[in-house]
Amino acid sequence: MSLAQPADLAVTNKKAALKGLYDALYEKNMFPFWATSEGVDHDEIKQLMATSKAIPFVWSYTDIEPLLQRAAELVTMDDSERRSLILVNPGLAPKRASVSTMYTAYRLNDPDEIMPPHKHSPSAIRFGLTGKGNFTGVEGEDVVFGPGDMVLTPNDAWHNHGTVGGEQAVNLSVLDLPLVETLHAVHFDHKYTEMVDGKEVEKKVQTARFPSDYSQRIYGEGGLMPRFVDHKRGGGLSSPMYVYRWEKMEASLDAHKDWDGDPHEGIVIDYVDPTTGGPVFRTINFYV
Ligand SMILES: [Fe+2]
Repeated sequence: MSLAQPADLAVTNKKAALKGLYDALYEKNMFPFWATSEGVDHDEIKQLMATSKAIPFVWSYTDIEPLLQRAAELVTMDDSERRSLILVNPGLAPKRASVSTMYTAYRLNDPDEIMPPHKHSPSAIRFGLTGKGNFTGVEGEDVVFGPGDMVLTPNDAWHNHGTVGGEQAVNLSVLDLPLVETLHAVHFDHKYTEMVDGKEVEKKVQTARFPSDYSQRIYGEGGLMPRFVDHKRGGGLSSPMYVYRWEKMEASLDAHKDWDGDPHEGIVIDYVDPTTGGPVFRTINFYV
């Protein structure tokens, strides 16, 4: 055994001192921001330094569809009013997130199921996939929607899910829930009430307060804005137009099909808040 040279000794001592410092920091729930992954050998450090990131991933509808059917058989509306399959990104699991700030969920409703109303701080859209009778009542506007129709349920707007018309229907949801969760701002409310004879009464179904074509009638024409209605609906932060019909989107895409479009994105049409021209939610933009 040979004695360490003074220079080596200094290095060894510094290493030991650093290790002691790191141990003391972890014990007190702190992280040495100057540490590099090669300079440290703790598992905790690797975990701290490995930020979870969404990875590119494809979910196939041929996998999703049979699982939706099995869920519909096994989980009745009485068991849960939230029978949705959330697409969880393998890079972010177990967090319920498809990408870092949003998740997508598929939902199959059996014929003529109507769930009780609820509201929440995350904003959501519902996009019709199959069946003509997807149903969502949003703030008293009863919307029946089919394939390609997009319905907004903005933050803090009372809404429910369901189907009418005697056939199964599948829709897709997109929520900004992972973002709102990160901001510690998620809240849900399931106690829907209406005033009846001057008294607040809990209700399982929202009474319609708007005609069912309200969104199209008031906001369906670009460049024109009715003055006689209140444009703040629900939480007041999102587009007051709650339904975007596929028919109009398809007509608009068709009208531009011989254009060159953007060299990278091609022909893209945004869904906009008709009162501002901006995105439908402050947190998510949608387009086709
Ligand atoms: Fe909801």
